[in-house]
Amino acid sequence: MAGDKDRIQRDVVLEALHRVGGKEELAAWYRDVLGKKGSLTLALRSLGSLDKPLRRERGKELNALRRMLEGRYEQLLKRMSPGEAVERSVRGKEGNDRQDDVDGEDWSLPVSGDGCGRLHPIPYVMEEITSFFGACGFVMAQGPHVEDDDHNFEALNMPPHHPARQMHDTFYLSSDESGASRLLRTHTSSVQIRAMRAGTPPFYVMASGGTYRRDYDQTHTPMFHQIEGLAVDKDIHMGHLKGCLQHFCEEFFGYGDVPLRFRPSFFPFTEPSAEVDIACHMDGESLSVGGESWMEILGCGMVHPHVLEACGVDSGCWQGFAFGMGVERLAMLKYGMRDVRMFFESEHGWLRHYGFRPFSVVSP
Ligand code: PHE
Repeated sequence: MAGDKDRIQRDVVLEALHRVGGKEELAAWYRDVLGKKGSLTLALRSLGSLDKPLRRERGKELNALRRMLEGRYEQLLKRMSPGEAVERSVRGKEGNDRQDDVDGEDWSLPVSGDGCGRLHPIPYVMEEITSFFGACGFVMAQGPHVEDDDHNFEALNMPPHHPARQMHDTFYLSSDESGASRLLRTHTSSVQIRAMRAGTPPFYVMASGGTYRRDYDQTHTPMFHQIEGLAVDKDIHMGHLKGCLQHFCEEFFGYGDVPLRFRPSFFPFTEPSAEVDIACHMDGESLSVGGESWMEILGCGMVHPHVLEACGVDSGCWQGFAFGMGVERLAMLKYGMRDVRMFFESEHGWLRHYGFRPFSVVSP
């Protein structure tokens, strides 16, 4: 329908104007939309072929759109090169009824590309991952970053002095008023315990967020992010775990047959346990999926019966799988970032390059 067509064009051209990142792009936008052969100019020219009433109606709409776009164009131009815009606006003064220009400023003007904020890759990738598992039926569970020993270790089958605790390089905090130990959670597996103690099986839960370990090099930072998954039901087996992770990788990386390897491993809270690596290629500053090297992206396994029992779940009836994936690692592989430390450097140029545009809000 005519109205729909106009609306689509309006949204598209406004969105394109919103994306404009510099003077040259602005000039190109002008040429494509308002120039002699621009889409809006052509749409106006084609009105002649319509019946009179329709021509009047659409002519009114399109002319209003043209005035509004010209106003916005002038505003942007003024911002990008003040001298030039003043000259143009003096030249084009006659009959210029820009309704949205109040006191020389149009506050509804879209933010220009240069000043536009970016989403940090971590929350963006977390959203990508959790929406996949959400669609598979996993429900988000929460847990604190400052944890106690029980949720982070003991209930996960790591009693005091268990050698596996040393692998975690924990940040300990001073004890609370009651003398209970406090620490920064070393993994999101602590949320498995909270979720199972708070409900009754079956469980299909996930958890996401910051985790902390005393570590710092090209592939480790003291704070990093994990996404945990836990599926406890009757008859769950390792095949479900493999299928679920394979499916995830195919969706996340956007192609089938992502080169994955399940490597036998050890975690006190899963038996059997595995780590999953993705084949990758490192070349100078870049990193890509597929190649001669392997990068570990997650730990996983079948939930240990001791963990189920510590949460009051009958391990004779219920069993399940769990995994914990490193968000930075997945982001690095998908978007070709080489050094994990850059996620935390707050460097503007890096963020402009790797960050994501927020959803653009286009005026109706
Ligand atoms: N918590 C483990 C880690 O941080 C990952 C993991 C989660 C392993 C769930 C098995 C099951 O390394």
